Amino acid sequence: MDRHKHPHFNSAVHLLLLTIFTALQTVTWGAHAIESPSPKELLIGFKATPDPSISSFQPLLFDESGNYSLGFLRVDPTHLSLSVLHVPSSVPVWSANTTRLPIWTDPTQLSFNGSLVLSDSHTGVFWSTDTIGDRVWLSNTSNLIVQKLDGETVLWQSFDLPSDTLVENQNFTTAMALVSLNGLYSMRLGPDYVGLYAKFGTSGTDPGQIYLKHRALEAKADIVEGRPIYLVLKSDGYLGMFQTGSTIPVDVQSFNTFQQNVSGIRRVRLEPDGNLKGYYWTGSSWVLDYQAISEPCELPSSCGSYGLCKPGKECSCLENRTVYGSSGCGPLENRVSGDFCGAYENRFRVLRRSGVELPFKELMGYRKMASIEMCEGACEGNCTCWGVVYSNSSGFCYMLDYPIQTLVAVGDETKTGYFKVREGVGKKKVDAWLGLGLGLFFGAVLVFAGVLGLGWYKLRNRGVKGYVEEEGVVGIGPYKDLGAASFRSIELCER
Ligand SMILES: *[C@@H]1O[C@H](CO)[C@@H](O)[C@H](O)[C@H]1NC(C)=O
Ligand SMILES: *[C@@H]1O[C@H](CO)[C@@H](O)[C@H](O)[C@H]1NC(C)=O
Ligand SMILES: *[C@@H]1O[C@H](CO)[C@@H](O)[C@H](O)[C@H]1NC(C)=O
Ligand SMILES: *[C@@H]1O[C@H](CO)[C@@H](O)[C@H](O)[C@H]1NC(C)=O
Ligand SMILES: *[C@@H]1O[C@H](CO)[C@@H](O)[C@H](O)[C@H]1NC(C)=O
Ligand SMILES: *[C@@H]1O[C@H](CO)[C@@H](O)[C@H](O)[C@H]1NC(C)=O
Ligand SMILES: *[C@@H]1O[C@H](CO)[C@@H](O)[C@H](O)[C@H]1NC(C)=O
Ligand SMILES: *[C@@H]1O[C@H](CO)[C@@H](O)[C@H](O)[C@H]1NC(C)=O
Ligand SMILES: *[C@@H]1O[C@H](CO)[C@@H](O)[C@H](O)[C@H]1NC(C)=O
Repeated sequence: MDRHKHPHFNSAVHLLLLTIFTALQTVTWGAHAIESPSPKELLIGFKATPDPSISSFQPLLFDESGNYSLGFLRVDPTHLSLSVLHVPSSVPVWSANTTRLPIWTDPTQLSFNGSLVLSDSHTGVFWSTDTIGDRVWLSNTSNLIVQKLDGETVLWQSFDLPSDTLVENQNFTTAMALVSLNGLYSMRLGPDYVGLYAKFGTSGTDPGQIYLKHRALEAKADIVEGRPIYLVLKSDGYLGMFQTGSTIPVDVQSFNTFQQNVSGIRRVRLEPDGNLKGYYWTGSSWVLDYQAISEPCELPSSCGSYGLCKPGKECSCLENRTVYGSSGCGPLENRVSGDFCGAYENRFRVLRRSGVELPFKELMGYRKMASIEMCEGACEGNCTCWGVVYSNSSGFCYMLDYPIQTLVAVGDETKTGYFKVREGVGKKKVDAWLGLGLGLFFGAVLVFAGVLGLGWYKLRNRGVKGYVEEEGVVGIGPYKDLGAASFRSIELCER
């Protein structure tokens, strides 16, 4: 709600910031261009470190047209990514998939010794092309290439390892994945379809829950079984699906500018909200001309976790007493991946809501059940289940094995949801500390009693051997045991 209060003020500020940002960028780039002419290739021996005075992007390599540049891009105040930027718009079209983000200071270095290597003298290699090449250059289509000097053999190219973007004529094959910047969503190819997947749950190797499946329509050519498909963004304004060995598309997803001459280049991007969007460049801005999902409520998590989406993208919360805010609806611990097994065993309360439906239920597995009680019962005692959605008319019971995301509001009140809400984490911690406190207290009492008893024993026997034996068994023993038990329970609740 707050976000929409002052739209004019916001856009004015936005524009101002944008102007300042662009001006700053022009200044930094201008300064840089004077001290070192923009290189068109990197040869063996090349080394570069991030310049602390640069606030946004430090170019290291340009393509021949100057439209694309490889360089260090600041992703937050202290970290960087190695990215290829569309220079006129500062939009990144590719980033190296590093395991961790390198820091924007001296020990971070990009070098070329046959491999293009991003490393840090303290922590080692972040990323490498693992090649034995002679030169690195950037094509005028934004492809970063490691080659031999013969100019023929391509040893490595960034087009084989896309990030979240595809540009015109870049081949997207079954071996690749587009992954959204936040890591939640991915696009992959099946034998005859393109799928979008969401990964809300645990970090296994599977791509997650499919939320959009577009099968080839085979209008112009039929799929030959056993031959892999690939996807290409065509300059004519469509996403074409092809089979290897044929130039006739088995599927055409046309954009708004299909078969129109647009002046600039095109790109598609898997956005952080899980939508796949197509854009073309007018020379001064990117214009949206394709969206895989046009109805916002059909996005996998349009209103965040435990959110409710009404058509038109009016967000509220599944729980009436929770007000939808900038951080969504759910308590924070529900947004972490996980389940109700182990430490969180049975630590949940139940939230029910009628008139709700899953945004992509056609793609979800379900079991047919005779009643809502059976459906809820199947989830209640199953620690990997986060909730169910039941349709009374069809008897379909959908089980959710990932933290609850956004549901869609429907008029049909016989469609009901049962959702687990994690709770009691804070309470358990208090219990554990209380346990530790009590343990220490009783331990101290026992030690004290032991010392008293010992004094009495000593007074009576004055024997050294008895003293050692008694201390081990009575004095320290119980205290140790209690302490160990308390520490175990702390470990459990912090896991
Ligand atoms: C950038 O690409 C456009 C075509 O998209 C081209 O017209 C323009 O000349 C290029 N810019 C430069 C500096 O070469
Ligand atoms: C290039 O440097 C990296 C990192 O220091 C090293 O692992 C690799 O073996 C080197 N490659 C060549 C061809 O020297
Ligand atoms: C890119 O380079 C190729 C030749 O390598 C050329 O045919 C094409 O016109 C260039 N495109 C742009 C946009 O400069
Ligand atoms: C980056 O690498 C990780 C682990 O190797 C992989 O899971 C992820 O999909 C990769 N991201 C992209 C954009 O390919
Ligand atoms: C894409 O694939 C086609 C057919 O397999 C091939 O001719 C073309 O060179 C590839 N393009 C790129 C940029 O790799
Ligand atoms: C697009 O432009 C090309 C050359 O610039 C021209 O040959 C073609 O007829 C145009 N197509 C359309 C649909 O305008
Ligand atoms: C929550 O609000 C909905 C619609 O406003 C209403 O139908 C439902 O009964 C309410 N539930 C509770 C528990 O107040
Ligand atoms: C659900 O369906 C059963 C029979 O299929 C019916 O008896 C019951 O009234 C329905 N419940 C609701 C809440 O509509
Ligand atoms: C528990 O729920 C998961 C989904 O969350 C399901 O795959 C599994 O079969 C269920 N286990 C049992 C015993 O019902």
